[in-house]
Parts: sequence; C-alpha cells; structure tokens
Amino acid sequence: MNKKILIIYDTESGSTREVAEIIGEEMKRLKTESDVRNIIDIDDISEYDVIIVGSPNWYGKPTPKIKKFLKRFDKELIQKPFAFFFTCMCLTKITGKNSPESIVYEDPQFNIIPKPENEMNMWQKSHTCSFYRNQLSKIIPNVKPVSVAVFKGRLDFGRLNFFHKVLMKFITLIVKEVKTGEYLNPNAIREWSKILCSDLLK
Ligand SMILES: Cc1cc2nc3c(=O)[nH]c(=O)nc-3n(C[C@H](O)[C@H](O)[C@H](O)COP(=O)(O)O)c2cc1C
Repeated sequence: MNKKILIIYDTESGSTREVAEIIGEEMKRLKTESDVRNIIDIDDISEYDVIIVGSPNWYGKPTPKIKKFLKRFDKELIQKPFAFFFTCMCLTKITGKNSPESIVYEDPQFNIIPKPENEMNMWQKSHTCSFYRNQLSKIIPNVKPVSVAVFKGRLDFGRLNFFHKVLMKFITLIVKEVKTGEYLNPNAIREWSKILCSDLLK
C-alpha cells in the first residue's frame, strides 16, 4: 500500500479535528501514508491519491468552508477515491429504508432505533442517514463517495462563538436528542478507518 491519503477537516469545538486525527493514526497503524490538515491550509490536493473530508453538521449540512472546498475541487474528487464524515449530535433512521444509506457508516454511539417516517418529527426527519447522504449529493452531485460516516461529536457551549452558543442553547431546549457532552467514540472511528483502508486502497 503506497497510496497517499489526505484527511481534511473543519471544526469549531475540536471534535471533527479529533476524529480526523484518530483516522490519521489508524491509517499509520495500517501502514498507510496520511496527512491530517485543517481546511484553511488546503490549496492543492493534487499530490494525494485518496481524499477524506470531515465536517461538523451545521443545520443538516457541511460547514460553509467545507462546501466551498467540495465545489472547488469536485473535478478532482470525481477522479480520486473519496470518503466523507460528519460529526453531529443526532442521527435517525427510517424503518426498513436501506439504500442509499448502505454506504453510510453509523456510529453505534447514536444508539439508533429506526422509526416509521410518519412517526418522526421535523428534526428527526432532517437527521436521517439518507438526509445526510443527500446533502452531500446536492453539493457534489457527480462525486460518488466510497463511504459516508456519521460520528457523534461534542457539544460544549464554552467552545462555541457567541452566536452559535445562543443558537445551540435554544436547540437543546427544544430538541430532546441534543444534549451537551463529549460523545466521541474512538472505537467506531477506528473501525470505519479499517473499512476505508480496505475499500479505498484496493
Ligand atoms: C451552528 C451549528 C449548527 C449545528 N447544527 C446541528 C444540527 O443540525 N444537527 C446536529 O445533530 N448537530 C448540530 N450541531 C452540533 C454539531 O454538529 C456538533 O456539536 C459537532 O460535533 C461539532 O463539531 P466540532 O467539535 O468539530 O466543531 C450544530 C452546531 C453548530 C455550532
């Protein structure tokens, strides 16, 4: 295995960076060359064979910086194996709905109990595996990711800017699934990294 992997992240409160770093460590353990970089430092991805991008979920979507990156480099992402991960607080699943969720890796930390769609509220409907997957397709319709993972991250008001703190405090009051805390699950991140290594580097 001599392919070079680039793992890019955006973050506000640090959890997406920590996920990216765990993936990087796991890739090294699996004897694969990888670099972990903040999105603000990326201007060129041509020297890499495989691209993995991670973003916090903001309102069901990647952050504006990640969206801009995906659009800017979509031609290159079509040509290279590409995987994506979100960190967020909530992930739901509709009973019996599997495709296109089949390429979505779900962090067991979410403890998902699938529900019929007609029993879901608006928030739950906008946090399904399919929804996350589709958000990505809207930004880069021609890029087919090898895998999309959704990991539970962190909600720590002390690490957010004023506007986001007020917003997330409000959301915790109205959405019971969203609670402050540290939910990073290194075992799930390592498991996904291993799956990726075998899928991306074939
Ligand atoms: C502006 C903003 C919007 C968010 N929207 C959602 C959301 O729609 N659904 C969700 O589950 N989490 C949402 N979150 C929580 C983040 O996705 C979660 O805390 C993530 O792990 C943060 O990543 P970071 O630590 O790398 O910044 C939001 C957080 C912020 C700051």
